[in-house]
Amino acid sequence: MRRVIVGLAGLAVLVVISLVLALAHPFGNPRATTTVATDAPSTLLLEHALMPVEVRSVLRQKCGDCHSTQTRWAWYGRFAPVSWLMEKDITEAQEQMNLSQWESLPDEEIFLLRAEIGGVAKAHVMPPAQYRVAHADVTLTDEDIRVLRDWAHGDVTSKLGESEKTPEDAGPGDAGRGKQVFASRCAGCHTLEQHREGPKLAGVFGRASGTAPGFIYSFALKKAAVKWDEQSLDKWLANPDAVVQMNNMYFHVAKAEQRRDLIAYLKSSGN
Ligand code: HEC
Ligand code: HEC
Repeated sequence: MRRVIVGLAGLAVLVVISLVLALAHPFGNPRATTTVATDAPSTLLLEHALMPVEVRSVLRQKCGDCHSTQTRWAWYGRFAPVSWLMEKDITEAQEQMNLSQWESLPDEEIFLLRAEIGGVAKAHVMPPAQYRVAHADVTLTDEDIRVLRDWAHGDVTSKLGESEKTPEDAGPGDAGRGKQVFASRCAGCHTLEQHREGPKLAGVFGRASGTAPGFIYSFALKKAAVKWDEQSLDKWLANPDAVVQMNNMYFHVAKAEQRRDLIAYLKSSGN
């Protein structure tokens, strides 16, 4: 009995020492600037970022704890020296890439980070191994890796054969089906009549790129002044980067048939 009490007292002393030591931050103190402390991944992180929803959800759930100021702190993160290691990781991770600032980064930096994210995902080095041990659920699944890589590379290589086909090769698209594809794939960023994250698209067919009044385009797309017709739209939808480098549309449609239908729909929706 006595031994148990002594043991418990010793443990209590250790806990207190550990808590007191955790007040020191030898490797930087990201707690001073991080905000969220709940179990759920932040629903705000990357909310306005231009990226496919699948990518956003992987980055939120599996990368945001270190690479953002919206860290979910685990309970054991209150105890030194674990707290120090976590603070060190988070400080370094934020320096490399802070997803909380994504929306305000210049295009060139986003371009580079996208490529790096694709690289680290493929190499299985992120999230770091020590973190995967503690949180089995943050390991990237094969599907996550595919999502990040396709996004990082604009899916250029795997879809080349498909996107080289011109719409004529396969007959005209169907505007009715195109409307449905639009609703499920484009409506997150575009409507016909109003600017959202992307410009309004009524009358886009036949007009020059980057000219819908009142929308803030990337410099690149405005300057390119691509005339939107069947060919250019097909290429754009297959891989925007292949038409204009450094554009702001982080999205593509892999299926040639869906692109044809979308183009038919855009063509039919006038000014
Ligand atoms: C446990 C914290 C942690 C998590 C979670 C985490 N990272 Fe990191 N990450 C780091 C640290 C620490 C560094 C900087 C040190 C390094 O390069 O190893 C880093 C560096 C990086 C870099 C820069 C790499 C380089 O070579 O310069 C990228 C890109 C990156 N992480 C992407 C990701 C992605 C994508 C995810 C989610 C799939 C992720 N990280 C999840 C801690 C983390
Ligand atoms: C993640 C958000 C997002 C999604 C999803 C998206 N777009 Fe875009 N789109 C944009 C942004 C942003 C721009 C402006 C790009 C720029 O300024 O470089 C744009 C530009 C365009 C343009 C050129 C408009 C012009 O005025 O020059 C067309 C055409 C277009 N998108 C069609 C589509 C279609 C069709 C879909 C669905 C298959 C789609 N987009 C899905 C964000 C998105």
